[in-house]
Amino acid sequence: MLSLIVAIGRNREIGKDGRMPWPTLSQDFKHLQEKTMGKTLLMGQKTFESLPGVLPKRFHIIVSDDLNFHKEHKRVRVVRDLKQILEECQAAEEEIVVFGGASIYRASLPYVERMYITKIDAEYDADTYFPEWNEEEWTVTADGDPITENGLTYQFFTYERSSRT
Ligand SMILES: NC(=O)c1ccc[n+]([C@@H]2O[C@H](COP(=O)([O-])OP(=O)(O)OC[C@H]3O[C@@H](n4cnc5c(N)ncnc54)[C@H](OP(=O)(O)O)[C@@H]3O)[C@@H](O)[C@H]2O)c1
Repeated sequence: MLSLIVAIGRNREIGKDGRMPWPTLSQDFKHLQEKTMGKTLLMGQKTFESLPGVLPKRFHIIVSDDLNFHKEHKRVRVVRDLKQILEECQAAEEEIVVFGGASIYRASLPYVERMYITKIDAEYDADTYFPEWNEEEWTVTADGDPITENGLTYQFFTYERSSRT
């Protein structure tokens, strides 16, 4: 089963110059840890490069077209064929979490059954965006009340797929 996790601004912005557009938000970081710990993460090469390194207690599948890109690590697998890995992850019994960035979110959305979306109530200058999604295909639940941190207000939502049109 494929899920995804993302934090977005008011305009679905997710990144700027290879990083998140906002400062680290500690409650969002904790939420990300809770939703991903012990699971397999599927991500693009650029998102992997934006991390401090291989994340503890999670397996990483990194998508790259670059034949020179290799990562030797027991919790990393590099794949070249995105469609094939999406089909493989969709058929898996365990939850595999799409971790970004924009190109991987866009390609994986049709395969995803659950979305963990942190909505940040602010607008940012950005160069990467989460794709638009059809609200009619999803049932949404809010996970708790809005949180205010460093002057920013944000809230966690879980979307479960209810149909495919
Ligand atoms: N707000 C959030 O929750 C969040 C989460 C994750 C990321 N981000 C942000 O998103 C931005 C990165 O997103 P991005 O879209 O630029 O990069 P990305 O999706 O992380 O990675 C793009 C790379 O993935 C590989 N790739 C993509 N499609 C492929 C395909 N069909 N086949 C094979 N390889 C493929 C390519 O690697 P090669 O070039 O090696 O071939 C491509 O350059 C950063 O700013 C990051 O901070 C935000």
